[in-house]
This record gives sequence, structure tokens and C-alpha cells, in this order.
Amino acid sequence: MNESYLDHGHLHIVPSLILPESGVIIADARVKAIYGDYFPRSIPILELKAIERAKSMNTLGKIYGFLSEHNVHRSDIVHVVGGGLICDLAAYGVATFKRGCRLRLYPSTLLSMIDAAIGGKCAVNYRNIKNHIGTFYPAEEIFIHPNFLHTLSSDELRQGLAEMLKSYLISDQLSPLDLSCSIPPSSQILEYAVFKMQLCKSDPYDLGARQQLNFGHTFAHILESSSQYRFKHGDCVVAGMIIALNISLKLGLISKLSAQALLNTLRQYPLPAGISDFYGSLDYQDILRATSQDKKNSNKVTRMVLPVAFRRVEVQEVVLNSVVLSEGLG
Ligand SMILES: NC(=O)c1ccc[n+]([C@@H]2O[C@H](COP(=O)([O-])OP(=O)(O)OC[C@H]3O[C@@H](n4cnc5c(N)ncnc54)[C@H](O)[C@@H]3O)[C@@H](O)[C@H]2O)c1
Repeated sequence: MNESYLDHGHLHIVPSLILPESGVIIADARVKAIYGDYFPRSIPILELKAIERAKSMNTLGKIYGFLSEHNVHRSDIVHVVGGGLICDLAAYGVATFKRGCRLRLYPSTLLSMIDAAIGGKCAVNYRNIKNHIGTFYPAEEIFIHPNFLHTLSSDELRQGLAEMLKSYLISDQLSPLDLSCSIPPSSQILEYAVFKMQLCKSDPYDLGARQQLNFGHTFAHILESSSQYRFKHGDCVVAGMIIALNISLKLGLISKLSAQALLNTLRQYPLPAGISDFYGSLDYQDILRATSQDKKNSNKVTRMVLPVAFRRVEVQEVVLNSVVLSEGLG
């Protein structure tokens, strides 16, 4: 495959970053600071800090103020440059300003290139609940510039690899990953981005097949919130996939052979020290309470994505109890 320019419909891999001279830009302040020379001087730019606290109604107000001040119309293009946090936040602002303006995304982290910028989900946090206010508003074009990844910390790069690993484990069509925390080739970034895009197109409102993308997420959310976000999302997803695998084994949903193959792959991911002990220190009752608080779940039944074979998952309704949960991350 020619790596100089890769395309798939509205997804483009661009070898050089070319930002437009018209419309307005909303950018991650850190990305703007590093890549300032690439930003045009002729159009308005709103810089926002990519911190979870800023994914808020307050920052949303700043976005509306910026768009109003620059007289942005529905037919104008808003260009958003940043990782998943800025893409989520700005896209929600753009989706709701005058009932929606034109949106182009330039994801700057691996996670946003293969996941957050794709599929149209956008949101802000509300009353400490992550992504509580949001909608679906797919960008008309997504420009992936892999060179952005050279300035990303290895910690952040790993979070993207974690979501790629999840995709690899729910589809046997994807090429194998190098989990050594090096930057994946552009062709593979596009392959994984296209995979997510196609899954989202087949189920735009997350009512069926797209839910497979939640593999590992039930327990990832519990680990993230109970650790007060000490552990990062991708790392928690990998831990969550191991916990889900152990639940599948306990319930007899997966053969020992398939489970071993899955575990061998998951163990190649460099999970940060301490996450396993942290999960082990959680109280079963708290875990059960947290799963039943999930909107999709009644008090008794938890709806979650479980592996049923190597690189195959299904949404299952299961009754969790201390026996089913006993393996933890072991
Ligand atoms: N909409 C979706 O479908 C979806 C899916 C997954 C995650 N998300 C959301 O994505 C967010 C996490 O996004 P993320 O993992 O991309 O991280 P992020 O946007 O929070 O960025 C992480 C850090 O990297 C910095 N950064 C970004 N690009 C950089 C670059 N090229 N060089 C150097 N530093 C850079 C940022 O300033 C920040 O400090 C969460 O808010 C999550 O809810 C959304």
C-alpha cells in the first residue's frame, strides 16, 4: 500500500498537516503550542486545555461564545485539532451551535485516530459523570496526520494501542499488532480506523453490533472511577478484557484453549504495575453495586461483552456474584 496518501471515504491519512485558511479552528492548546507553525494566522483559533475537568458545560459556553463572536454560520466549517477529549468536547459544541455546523476533525493522539474521532459520539461531562450530556454527530471529514504521534508520550501512545488491541480481539479480520509501544504504520492506523468506521456505519446509534466495541469497558469504568482516574482508560480496558475473559471461563462460555490464546495475547500488553493489586483490593459488593448502577443493567442482570472464542465476542446478560468474579485479574 502506498503510505504517502491513504484514503477511505471520509477518512484520510495526510503525510503533511495542512490546515485551512477559512472557517475557524478549535485546538488542543498543547498541540497548538507544539505545532504552531502549521496553524494559519488568518483565521480565528480557540485554544482549549485537554484536561478532563475542562470537558464541561463551562468550556462548552466558551465554545459557543467563540462561535458567536466570529459569526459562524451553519454552512461554515469548524476544524477541530486535538485528542479525544478536545474532539468530543468541540464536536458537541459544533453539533449543538445553531443546530449544527460543518465539522472536520484532525485527531492528534493514537486513541483519537483509531477510536474517538470516529463514529460520531461526542459529549461533555456533567456533575462528575463522564460523557453524560452528548449526542451523535459524525464529522464530514477526518484527517489523520500520523506525524502527530512523534510528540505523544509513550503513556498516551499505549492507551491507543489498548483500544487497537480490543479491536483486534473482536475481529479476526484485522492485522496483528506490535504491542511494544512503537508507533504503528500509517496503513495499520487506517485499517483500524476503517474497521471502527464500518462498525459504526452498520449501527450508528449503538443499538447492536457496535456494542462489541465495549469489550473490556464494564470493568474499565469501575477501575477508572474507583481509582479516581489514577489508571488510564486504555490500561483499564485491557484489565477489563482480562476480567471479562475470566468471567467467560467461569460461565463456560469459552473453551480453555481459546481462553489461553486470548490471555497470551492480552499478556503481551504492558499493563502498568499496581492495577491488578488495586482491582484485588476492591470489595465485591462495591463492584456488584457499580455494575448494577450502569443504566443498561437491572439489579440482578449485567449486560456485558464477553469473549466466546479467540477474537470473537458477544453481548451477554449475566448474573455476577462473588464466585463468577473470583478470578479477578489473575
Ligand atoms: N467519542 C468516542 O467515541 C470516544 C472514544 C474513546 C474515548 N473518547 C474520549 O477521549 C478522551 C481521551 O482522549 P485521548 O486519549 O485522545 O487523550 P486526550 O485528548 O485527553 O489527550 C491526552 C494528552 O495528550 C496531549 N496531546 C494530544 N495530542 C498530542 C500530540 N500530538 N503531541 C503531544 N501531546 C498531545 C493532550 O494535550 C493531553 O495532555 C476521553 O475524554 C474519552 O472520553 C471518546
